[in-house]
Amino acid sequence: VFNKPLTIAIDGYSACGKSTLARALAKRLGYSYIDTGAMYRAVTLHLQRQNVDLDDEGAVAGAMQSLRITFRPSDNHVLLNGEDVESEIRGLAVSKLVSPVAALSIVRRAMVEQQRQMGKDGGVILDGRDIGTVVFPDADLKLFVTADLDTRVDRRLRELRGAGREVQRVDVAANLEERDYIDSHRDDSPLRQADDAILLDNTDLGLDELVDRGAALVADLRADR
Ligand code: DC
Repeated sequence: VFNKPLTIAIDGYSACGKSTLARALAKRLGYSYIDTGAMYRAVTLHLQRQNVDLDDEGAVAGAMQSLRITFRPSDNHVLLNGEDVESEIRGLAVSKLVSPVAALSIVRRAMVEQQRQMGKDGGVILDGRDIGTVVFPDADLKLFVTADLDTRVDRRLRELRGAGREVQRVDVAANLEERDYIDSHRDDSPLRQADDAILLDNTDLGLDELVDRGAALVADLRADR
């Protein structure tokens, strides 16, 4: 079907530029953007606030019952039971706990189901770690974004400081390395490049060029159909 709304999956390591790419492409295409990392971060905040022991499956399951994650359409901020937690989920406290939380199957099952539901009609771009491998294995376009660690640390540091947070480079670097390790070594849906994903290394590309490359790939795909 000509110009049927596409489903676009973007995966990659922490702070590699994938959300910038996803957001910009969604804007150009008039698609919705689903930041799946924000969902795992909101779950983490919820469990943290309730002091849930992550080793206690029953307690995690119980806490998941009282959790509702939505995105506010006007600005795409993530809402936890209706509360705007967009700023709070970006801090180091949540960043330090999110990978262990995201390794729990009970959490993943709930998030994946909601993501499939939100994306079922297409015209959507999702970014995360398992979108092309698990959430939408039949996505029309799969991108896998990388950049070397130094580039990613610089980028995340600029973002956090730009938002007025006092953070040290060593702490940000340690957090990115630790998350990448946990995210790619967990048993349930580890981060990996799908066999049919296109690799975009943006170590030496500016974010604008990354977005241009992504847009060119979407244009090629549409021309083929
Ligand atoms: O994209 P992000 O850095 O905000 O994601 C935060 C964490 O959430 C990431 O370190 C691992 C987890 N995550 C995941 O396991 N699966 C996804 N699809 C997205 C994020």
